[in-house]
Formats: sequence, structure tokens, C-alpha cells
Amino acid sequence: MSISIILFPCWHITGSHLYELEQHLDRFLGSALMAEIPLPFDRSTIRSILIQTVRASECTQGSLRYWLSAGPGDFQLSSSGCSNSALYAIVIESASLQVPASCKVVTSSVPIKSPQFAVMKSVNYLPNVLTKIEGEESGSFTGIWVDNEGFVAEGSNMNVGFVTKDKQLLVPRFDKILSGCTAKRVLTLAEQLVVDGRLSGIISRNVSVEEGKAADEMMLIGSGILVKPVVQWDDQIIGSGKEGQIARALYDLILEDMKSGPPSVRIPIH
Ligand SMILES: Cc1ncc(COP(=O)(O)O)c(C=O)c1O
Repeated sequence: MSISIILFPCWHITGSHLYELEQHLDRFLGSALMAEIPLPFDRSTIRSILIQTVRASECTQGSLRYWLSAGPGDFQLSSSGCSNSALYAIVIESASLQVPASCKVVTSSVPIKSPQFAVMKSVNYLPNVLTKIEGEESGSFTGIWVDNEGFVAEGSNMNVGFVTKDKQLLVPRFDKILSGCTAKRVLTLAEQLVVDGRLSGIISRNVSVEEGKAADEMMLIGSGILVKPVVQWDDQIIGSGKEGQIARALYDLILEDMKSGPPSVRIPIH
């Protein structure tokens, strides 16, 4: 085994489909490239191995996690002593998804990762672990990172979204944080709320802490939680202090997308 980075995305298994497999696989392969881990197989073989693993597990509700490591070797930092990279996959059964409860968040005191490492999904996750623990120890769900310019970044393993006073869905830009598959899908699904007038627009740009705390709604977005409303950030109550209607509508949309979305996001297991 080498100390080289291992990657660990996760995605949902619902009924007989995998949700957002292609999108997670794209990020996985991009991260492998950035981490300089050669692929043990080509994309379509990896895809097929992952689908076969889920099929063999007979799991109908859960998630698939998978890793890529530089493989067996000499326990040195460089992967030059590793013969072949190795892919690992595990299927984790879970109870059916529950509507996420509202939560509090705190500004993280753990230093944010530099963009080079924040944009790739790797096991360089100790800062994320400490941010999550810091949040939990203060009675919150997670810590929220603010970047070096004072803009809202992301949570420990989720993105952040806001609804502004003029009903725009506002998501911090993805250029210095992990580009969340769930957040990107939420941005697409949210177009339905623009059409029916519940949102006035959708925008991805820098968000100052002040603007975020003054929002009508705040939410955490990620494949582990889907869309989780935030009702308090540090001492600031967000909006009405109750679960936001847009957060709930986005949760319902993504849940429906998992059950009956288009083939681009739902890959059959059988
Ligand atoms: C740091 C970080 N940001 C955002 C996300 C959300 O990404 P996704 O929606 O693809 O799960 C994750 C997921 O693990 C993450 O680790």
C-alpha cells in the first residue's frame, strides 16, 4: 500500500437505479488525474464494476462508496514504488431517506483547504473531519468554512445554498470548493420553481457572510443529506427561524428526481 491519496465518492441506490453515477464518476476521474493516481481500468470498465458490485449486493436502498489508491507498494510517500493502482467499492445498506430536520451551523475555525485540494475529492479530509466535529461539539450540525476573502465556501461535506430576500436561489461559486453533484442538480431542478414563480432566479456567485446571514433561507446540500434547512448560523437566526419553503421544495424535487428522473441521472442496476 502507498500513502497516496484515495478517493471516496458516494452515491445513492434507490430501488433498481443508481443516482447520479455518471456525474460522480466524472468527478472521481478528474480527482484521480489531479492526484496523479493512474486508473487501473478505463472509465467504462470502472463503471461496469461498480454497477456489478451493486447488483451482486442485492441492495435496493443505500449507497455505494468507492476508493482508488495507488495500490500495493512500499508505504512511501511517492507512488513510484506501487505496482498497480487499486479500486475498492463497498455497498452500504441504509434505511429509507427521511425528511431532513432543520439544523444550526457554526463558522469553522479550522483553516480552509487551499483551492487545489478543496476542488478534488480525496482522503485529504482531516480539516473536514475537524470542522464536522467542531460543529457537533457546539450543538450544531457542521462547521461552515469562510474563505480567505471572507466569502462563504462550504460545509464539512456539503455545499451551502441561500434564498435571498428577493427570492433568488444563491449558491457560492464552485471554483475554490468541491463541485457538488447534488448542488449542481439542485440548480437545474430549481428552474421549475422559477417557472412557477416561487423563485425569481438562480445564481452562482461569491456570497459574503453578511449577505448569507441576512438571507431568507439557508440550506446544506450534498448527497448524504440532499437538502437540509439551516435555521441558525452562529448567533444569527436565518429568516423566520423555521424550515424554509424553498429548501423543502428542493428536497422534494431531488427526491422525486431520484425516483423518476431522466436516464442522465438514473442508471439501471440490472
Ligand atoms: C467538501 C464537500 N463539499 C461538498 C460536498 C457535496 O458533494 P456531493 O453533492 O457530490 O455529495 C461534499 C461531499 O462529500 C464534500 O465533501
